[in-house]
Amino acid sequence: MEKLYVEGKRGLRGELVCHGAKNSVLPILAACAVTGQEVLLHNCPALTDVDISLQILAHLGCECRREGNDVAVDAGTLCCAQVPQPLMLQMRSSIVFLGALTARCGEACLTYPGGCDLGARPIDLHLDALRALGAQVTEEHGLISCSAPEGLRGASIALYFPSVGATENILIAASRARGRTVLTNAAQEPEVVDLARFLNACGANISGAGESTIVIEGVEDFHPCEFTVMPDRIEAVTFLAAAAITGSVLTVHKTDVDSLRAVLPIFLESGCQVTCQGDSVSLRAPERLNGVKMIRTMPYPGFSTDAQALVMAMLATAKGTSVFVENIFENRYKHAYELNKMGANIKTEGRMAVVEGVEGLTSCPVTATDLRSGAALLVAGLAAEGVTEIGHIFHIRRGYQSLWDDLNSVGAKIEQRD
Ligand code: UD1
Repeated sequence: MEKLYVEGKRGLRGELVCHGAKNSVLPILAACAVTGQEVLLHNCPALTDVDISLQILAHLGCECRREGNDVAVDAGTLCCAQVPQPLMLQMRSSIVFLGALTARCGEACLTYPGGCDLGARPIDLHLDALRALGAQVTEEHGLISCSAPEGLRGASIALYFPSVGATENILIAASRARGRTVLTNAAQEPEVVDLARFLNACGANISGAGESTIVIEGVEDFHPCEFTVMPDRIEAVTFLAAAAITGSVLTVHKTDVDSLRAVLPIFLESGCQVTCQGDSVSLRAPERLNGVKMIRTMPYPGFSTDAQALVMAMLATAKGTSVFVENIFENRYKHAYELNKMGANIKTEGRMAVVEGVEGLTSCPVTATDLRSGAALLVAGLAAEGVTEIGHIFHIRRGYQSLWDDLNSVGAKIEQRD
């Protein structure tokens, strides 16, 4: 089992570059299936979740090729509408193939998806939306079957919560449906906008992505396209949190600065100087951060739940108390338990976590329990006394192309060993 060994108390200095966004490229790869076209994606990060998506596409009959961070998918040869359980269980995003396959093939058979364990993660919004688009959906023996032999038809769909995955499934499925779909209370995440940009680049007709109402006029024909995946905003937060907790100076290039607007004020409040110029963010941290009053995770443009663990690790050694309220997932504080093993003082109660900043953390063996918790432990390890051992780092690989190599290039000392 591979582990990371993070030597703490080393300052960082230098420049890093963001990779393509995991949460953007995964639905885009699923959307390739609906287009049935040749697609060339640039800035496609090398992540295990991306590998799984490519394996699903290959299983469906598509041809996939990677050269560096370019990925070519030919979905013209797609000949299967079933995704087997071992692939489905590898990640949450596999559920987005449901809309793509139903719209393209008139049927789909999938199992329930896997992904990070953050509490109950129902898929009712996905299934209800496909029903509204005219599919017959059945759930039996752990299999989800969708059937729409005459094709899908446009509909009015209102989500009771702006689910990112459900919005993406609807965008993909409705782009090939007959007629117009009007989606209200849609997720407004930048990755939803990136997906709509990709589908439109392939010939779809989607307007309003990034707002709460999205209108999708179904089209029959798509065309080949070349597309560049947007930068990963959570990777940017990870780099900035690493710099902040170590009292460092760091510039992160190739970011989407606008997508960081809910997170950057937290860095300012904690005492960091932050400068944005073009697509770069520079951060200069004080010797010790200040606690921040209240962080509430919200759908975009609110503070991202994916940034919560990273910012909590960063504030574990801040002066004063910080309070978190997790409004998106019911069980997303597992990292708090691990951080406490390192000497943090974090109390959690339901959706609330209270972080009493401590003078310093000490190293010990800890375990990544999900993707962002793993990255948060790495951030904490950078500031801890001694060498922190992190297990289950396969979680981190799901969402970061080269996190430890990147941090080592600016002064960290992180080793990966068996
Ligand atoms: C996506 C992101 C994930 C991020 C999350 C919230 C990807 C691959 N993953 O996950 O990193 O943390 O958005 O920003 O893009 N819900 C329902 N019924 C549904 C669907 C969702 O009740 O059918 C609930 C969920 O349980 C959760 C909330 O809605 O409480 C948000 O989930 P959702 O936005 O769907 O997250 P994901 O798309 O799974």
